[in-house]
Amino acid sequence: MKVLLATQKPFSAQAVEGIAKIIREGGHSFEVLEKYASEAELIEAVKDVNALIVRSDLVTEAVIKAAPELKIVVRAGAGFDNIDLQAATSAGVVVMNTPGQNANAVAELAIALMIFMVRNQFTPATGTEIAGKTLGIQGFGNVGCLIAAKAAALGMKVKAYDPVRSAEDLRSYGVEPVESLERLYSECNYVSLNVPLLPSTEGLVGDRLLGLMPKGGVLVNTARKEVVNEQGLKKALAERTDLKYATDVAPDNYAQLREEFGLRIYANSKKMGAQTSEANINAGYAAARQIVDFFATGNTKFQVNR
Ligand code: 3PG
Repeated sequence: MKVLLATQKPFSAQAVEGIAKIIREGGHSFEVLEKYASEAELIEAVKDVNALIVRSDLVTEAVIKAAPELKIVVRAGAGFDNIDLQAATSAGVVVMNTPGQNANAVAELAIALMIFMVRNQFTPATGTEIAGKTLGIQGFGNVGCLIAAKAAALGMKVKAYDPVRSAEDLRSYGVEPVESLERLYSECNYVSLNVPLLPSTEGLVGDRLLGLMPKGGVLVNTARKEVVNEQGLKKALAERTDLKYATDVAPDNYAQLREEFGLRIYANSKKMGAQTSEANINAGYAAARQIVDFFATGNTKFQVNR
């Protein structure tokens, strides 16, 4: 089988070497397309591939239709909102992710962004400490769990909201469950967003929830930019001059927001939550192993389009 690793934002060379080794030892051929500039380039590259490994690369209906031999797409990472699942399912293509494999890198970034913001983006103005403060985690999946443990070790109290996990389950991680987003935002000094992008989470956080935060509130978003309603964010930052927002993915109107709100807002220039060599290796190798296993045994354990 022919396996293509297509990454606009490349994995480290070491990770690519390891992925190639796993694929070739599994008896398959391996090709790489990195830093491509257009969908047309991806469309050209997939025309004879049987398996595709991607990161946040857009796997659209056009890409799937251009790959008649495609059997499997593995998103080397957690979120699969970049893949047209309906088109894949209609074409009989299995889609998988590699849950948890890059979670630690994202969790470390969330803690870093929180500290960066309460220290005024490392400018000399007097900041605050995170010890003794309460962190709210919105979405208690692989990343949320790790953030909770790190925050607790740093002396924070941790509360969590997750509509699909029971209170008892959340308590078993040493966090205090809260039954509504309103409570999470009104009871926590800082909130970390860790939900997937779904129709139910798109635009979920805006001025109404942000306005409930205690004085000095900080929202840290290492999920997807679309979960935050940008107009609502703008309104909240304008109405509450104590609120701050840090995000791994810049809002569409970031330049304007930065001009208006200065050091109260921060966005990375490129999404970098999962951009560590460890996460590249963990997610990349997992994707390669899942493909080899799928062709050898039919294993679809991590399939997301059943
Ligand atoms: C994920 O969903 O796994 C993260 O957002 C990482 O995305 P990336 O691999 O494109 O950096």
